[in-house]
Amino acid sequence: EDSELGENPHYMLKEIFEQPEALENAMRGRFSADGSTSVFGGLNISVQDLRGMGRLMICACGTALHAGMVTEYLVERFARLPVECDHASEFRYRNTPLFAKTLFFVFSQSGETIDTLAAMREAQRKGFQVLAINNGVGSTIAREANGGIYQHAGPEIGVASTKAFTSQLIIGAMLALHLGRIRDMSFRDGTEIVSALKGVPDLVRATLKQAAHIKAIAQKYAGFNDMLFLGRLELFPIALEGALKLKEISYIHAEAYPAAEMKHGPIALINEECPSVFLVPQNEIFNKVVSSMQEIKARGGPIIAITTSDAELPEGLADDVITIPACHEAVLPIVATIPLQLFSYYVAVERGCDVDKPRNLAKSVTVE
Ligand code: G6P
Repeated sequence: EDSELGENPHYMLKEIFEQPEALENAMRGRFSADGSTSVFGGLNISVQDLRGMGRLMICACGTALHAGMVTEYLVERFARLPVECDHASEFRYRNTPLFAKTLFFVFSQSGETIDTLAAMREAQRKGFQVLAINNGVGSTIAREANGGIYQHAGPEIGVASTKAFTSQLIIGAMLALHLGRIRDMSFRDGTEIVSALKGVPDLVRATLKQAAHIKAIAQKYAGFNDMLFLGRLELFPIALEGALKLKEISYIHAEAYPAAEMKHGPIALINEECPSVFLVPQNEIFNKVVSSMQEIKARGGPIIAITTSDAELPEGLADDVITIPACHEAVLPIVATIPLQLFSYYVAVERGCDVDKPRNLAKSVTVE
């Protein structure tokens, strides 16, 4: 009935397919002329002050917190800056000791989440300038922040956040690059990351072409009641996001862990009734993740693997495989998110759930 939906059955699916453009919009006009770094017009902080920062603190809720957690990994790697990422609802009451030279960011799609707003106000009360990564132009957080970066992802209607999430991921990667280049990152490493970032819309387009394959897998697993999502390093927060998406729209109980942590408890859940979704890209710990998969396999747990085109999984280890393009670690979390969004979407549709308006959830939580 809604003209904006066009041919799409749901806003969530429409927004999943809008991601290549949303990513382009997040990057537009934000690279330096020499192609070695990102530039942001609204940080309201000098390069000298930014360079002097000894710590980055990120507060957010829900999906935005997962984008903050990926940013934590990337800023630590690219800028060698200590990062802490916290639930805004915890930060506002826990009285974390804060170093003077702390760069403070909140991430919020809507810019109206009350806990995120309260975390920002608490930091401001303590004398910090707070910057926001935000999609809601003119939102309360946008107005009260001391500066920030707009996402330009366009309106997101589906309650389950999709394009706003990957848009925050790319801005987080660009922030990590920016902080890296004013510290120790070389011109060469900077240009490599810039070209990886510029290539991500096409990698997402290529991954979206696998929708029919992912739909078939989703239909196969839609009848299960419990699932685990396992990933490591910058894909651990992506596993959290995959589990959150599935819970939100399909009401399947799902949990996420760093893959190696699984043996400290969650493995007790494993049997034929509890599938695991593994994020297993080719990287320096590929073999470690493969051995976690073998532990699950040995206990009869079905396995869906999301792997990269340059990885060679042992034959027969996974029951179902989704292959994403090999890519730079700066953009891998974005590309790896796409199959998880499509998987949860098609599982929810198969279960007859109201995908765009899941029960008990609000697009923006403006009361505590
Ligand atoms: C709600 C939404 C989530 C969102 C979270 C934070 O719980 O249902 O999708 O991630 O709020 O929202 P924000 O607008 O601050 O990013």
